[in-house]
Amino acid sequence: MLEKIQDSASWLLSHTQLRPTTVIVLGTGLGRLADEIEIIDEFPYHVIPNFPVSTVEGHKGKLIFGHLGGKEVMALDGRFHYYEGYDMKTVTFPIRVMRELGIKNYVVSNAAGGTNPEFRIGDIMLIVDHINFMPEHPLRGKNIDYGPRFPDMSQAYDREYLDMAREIAAKDNIRLVEGVYLATSGPTFETPAEYRMFHRLGADAVGMSTVPEVIVARHCGMRVFGMSVITDLGVDGKIVQVSHEEVQRAADAVQPIMANLVRKMIERIA
Ligand code: HPA
Repeated sequence: MLEKIQDSASWLLSHTQLRPTTVIVLGTGLGRLADEIEIIDEFPYHVIPNFPVSTVEGHKGKLIFGHLGGKEVMALDGRFHYYEGYDMKTVTFPIRVMRELGIKNYVVSNAAGGTNPEFRIGDIMLIVDHINFMPEHPLRGKNIDYGPRFPDMSQAYDREYLDMAREIAAKDNIRLVEGVYLATSGPTFETPAEYRMFHRLGADAVGMSTVPEVIVARHCGMRVFGMSVITDLGVDGKIVQVSHEEVQRAADAVQPIMANLVRKMIERIA
């Protein structure tokens, strides 16, 4: 495992001159941020040794090195979901490669269903904490000594970065909400009873990604900043049928706002 990670990393190190310390995962809601990155090098996942290849519609697969807001960044255009059939070691493989590449900051976005009755479709939710409801833990198995056997999770989402985002949003008049993101395996969206249960458990939003990656990023010592686009509502009285296309459409509508926020975050943290 470690050998595979290091092979991928050394291949990348010998194929780009850039040495960014921040990675942006271009999840749903941030896909078009790729157009704002001044790309220096890009590598389709299939050319990188040992890299998994993504399958889901709307998620291409390439690793980008370039500049955003005048700063060096790496971007993962296309991520790996548990529901696609990958095991957790594969889902989180890229994060460990990034650790070997010197990445210190992990910036992530996703689409999620809101369970908090105050939320509206199109809201951007700062992820302040998470609930891991996935059936397999990404750190199960022999510990890789990037971090401790029993990693602390008292501050998975960096408080300083959250404050930065609040500040930027206040200045730019962006409506932000905040909450706890709960990750399920998917691929079903929730039944009304499940949305209700998750809300009672303490979730403000529910989705199918991010949590395994964040756990591994924290194990690797990275600082994490995450956002969800609320694309549908799992709130009693507001539940309607939901499809991947609608999720994508709702996320697309928010892209420019989210991209602006992320660019300004990068200017400060990268
Ligand atoms: N549930 C799970 N995942 C999601 C949802 C949802 O309602 N919306 C977007 N991703």
